[in-house]
Amino acid sequence: MISLNIGNMVSEVIGRAGLTEKEIEGLKEKALLAHGEVAKGLAFMDLTEQDTSGVKKIAEEIRAKAEGFILLGIGGSALGPKSILEAMSPMHNLKNSPKVFVYDNVDPSTLKNILSLVDLRKTAVNVITKSGSTGETMASFMALYEGGPAALIVATTDPEKGALRKLVGEKGFRSLPIPSPLGGRYSVLSPVGLLLAGVIGVDPDELLRGARAMKERCSNPELWENPAYLFGALLYLMDKLKGRRITVMMPYSDRLKVLGEWFCQLWAESLGKSGVGLTPYPSLGTTDQHSQVQLWMEGPEDKVVVFVRVLDHGADIKIPEVFKETETGYLGGHSLGELMNAEEESTELCLAKAGRPNMTLEAPAVNAFYMGQLFYFFELATAFTGFLYGINPFDQPAVEEGKRFTYGMMGRPGFEAKRLEVQEARLKKACWRV
Ligand code: PA5
Repeated sequence: MISLNIGNMVSEVIGRAGLTEKEIEGLKEKALLAHGEVAKGLAFMDLTEQDTSGVKKIAEEIRAKAEGFILLGIGGSALGPKSILEAMSPMHNLKNSPKVFVYDNVDPSTLKNILSLVDLRKTAVNVITKSGSTGETMASFMALYEGGPAALIVATTDPEKGALRKLVGEKGFRSLPIPSPLGGRYSVLSPVGLLLAGVIGVDPDELLRGARAMKERCSNPELWENPAYLFGALLYLMDKLKGRRITVMMPYSDRLKVLGEWFCQLWAESLGKSGVGLTPYPSLGTTDQHSQVQLWMEGPEDKVVVFVRVLDHGADIKIPEVFKETETGYLGGHSLGELMNAEEESTELCLAKAGRPNMTLEAPAVNAFYMGQLFYFFELATAFTGFLYGINPFDQPAVEEGKRFTYGMMGRPGFEAKRLEVQEARLKKACWRV
């Protein structure tokens, strides 16, 4: 199992910057209330029991027929599948077919580049949008749809509502459901992430088996017995008692870099509302030791660093015993994996010594089973933390407002007032250009 070490969060280990046992115990009542909310049942929790036969059938068809696979989506509808791709099949397109592209922005130069690399007639397109109407996703889909007949189109969307669901009915696209009321950032273990997993040859059931194992591990209402709750509780207390509102996510694994970005979106969009929230900050070990650690050690005392340490990187390379006569000779005989993990431990220790709180999630390896565990762990921890703050961790009212302004500017009927608001704002800003 993935484990969590919180030693460097407590005062016994790091001194006054840490939390005392009494402070943690003091949260117990609030934590039980938050657990009460979780126990009512959350949409992402049910995904562990889903039937994956529909996803697997379409994935097999794509693997048999297509040379390319383009996933269209944004935010929660793209980061989950993208993190599965990077973790499970790094540098995928250099070695595998179908080639996989996650187009999660409307930058036209990116789409041009993708289209120069695939033949659309031999490419499957998976358009993912829960609402069925997100401008970026639907515009990209429209551009591809007009660009020529794709080998196969799969629409992943709400089972009943929305413009994309309507198109499924009219045009006969294959479709997969994002069960209501599941929102984008909690949807990685639904067909949103599972189809891409199947397309790259990862067994969707193995991801769900991992999630089920974590569900079982995190079913205890007791804070000390529930790692996901403890994770959320400690970060919440660090904000309330120590003014630490920045959560740095630092995996020591290239394969988990996008998982870190997925976490940051989940954490930001779920918790940042009603004037509260914790600011996530994606980072990568060891690379960012040479970019960020100076700030974390001696800069403002406003952060908690979360490390993700991987025991077995899936491959290792021995460092040969060359250059013995130089001061780098000591490296010979060790391995790159060993160095990576030594660097992680050193950073933990440096921060702890400087009284900078941090905690570590340890994964035995990066595979579908542990990815499933990590996804479930972070989703539960995020929802629980949202309940501690007393906010709704499943909505995103501010994002929706941005979407409405764009609808207005792009001329969507019913959004004329938003268009006017944009024009007024432009006028106010006009004389401030320098
Ligand atoms: O996590 C979320 O809920 C958001 O980031 C959405 O995924 C994003 O806005 C895209 O929405 P939709 O899936 O409706 O296109």
